[in-house]
Amino acid sequence: KRIKILEVRSELGAGTRGSSMGVDALRVACLNKGSDYFRRYNSVAVPDLNYALFDATPFPYARHIDAIYTVQKSVASAVEQTLRFGEFPLVLSGDHSSANATIAGIKAAHPHKTLGVIWIDAHADIHSPYTTPSGNVHGMPLAAALGEDNRVCQRNEPDADTEFFWRRLQNLSEPGPKLRPEHLVYVAVRDTEEEEDALIERLGIKWIRLPEIQEKGSRQLAREIYQHLRFCDMVYISFDVDSLDSSFSHGTGTPVENGLYLSEGENLCQDLLENERVVCFEMGEINPTLDNENTMANNAFNILEKATAAIERRLQLDEVVDRG
Ligand code: ARG
Ligand code: MN
Ligand code: MN
Ligand code: MN
Repeated sequence: KRIKILEVRSELGAGTRGSSMGVDALRVACLNKGSDYFRRYNSVAVPDLNYALFDATPFPYARHIDAIYTVQKSVASAVEQTLRFGEFPLVLSGDHSSANATIAGIKAAHPHKTLGVIWIDAHADIHSPYTTPSGNVHGMPLAAALGEDNRVCQRNEPDADTEFFWRRLQNLSEPGPKLRPEHLVYVAVRDTEEEEDALIERLGIKWIRLPEIQEKGSRQLAREIYQHLRFCDMVYISFDVDSLDSSFSHGTGTPVENGLYLSEGENLCQDLLENERVVCFEMGEINPTLDNENTMANNAFNILEKATAAIERRLQLDEVVDRG
């Protein structure tokens, strides 16, 4: 079993353009470090629509949702095919809206397996067009995957076309929710809006905040997280680089203070990715156009190397088990 890199140059879901270049910023970080990382793996670029349109969009409560839907269909089928081929999809994305498509692709490959999601992010990304404060679709992937609208907290009146595309995102690959709230774990989330807080509380989503991470350490946390996800047959880990403290870089669209230290991010990814149920890892939201000297990508690349090494150790173990 091998790792396959899926390069998703999405950026239309973010409020600031430029995160599609995050993948290439990681490649530059790799070159400058003298690493052969990107030569070791096959990679495939998923088609994007970043420069096919002007920045104007007729959808104020889900900006560019029409183009995002088109991109997400490609992402979902790339993830599905990679898994069907027996490979491990390592998704390098731009804006985080793509995570809805990653989840849909995993479910499409394994429709009868229960999916758990570990969401390492400063943000909860659980808005809908009915509640979004920004209209940015990267704030919505988990509501789409959960099949949630959160209409009880409605603050916007999206039009029928927006609703049409939003339903399409919620029903990507196959109709219906892809994820249950009890199978989602938030890690390092610290910048949410009240509509999100109300929904998280109503759904009873597990939420591990910064002090708990620092108190317990990543080993202990990984044990607790997998205990919480014990009924899940497969797990997807989504790493938004803004989970890291904003002091490490300006190179992401929505930096937030009081985040993870670099070593904490590394250790968390490493310990979480050693679990044999993990079927997919995603890293996103690096925006080199907002950065100085590619700091964000350099930091993220170190984490990516550690995370990948943990996946490799596991895949090798799997092979030994398969042969024996
Ligand atoms: N909650 C805010 C919004 O909806 C910020 C979302 C940021 N999401 C992200 N993937 N960086 O606009
Ligand atoms: Mn995010
Ligand atoms: Mn975020
Ligand atoms: Mn905020």
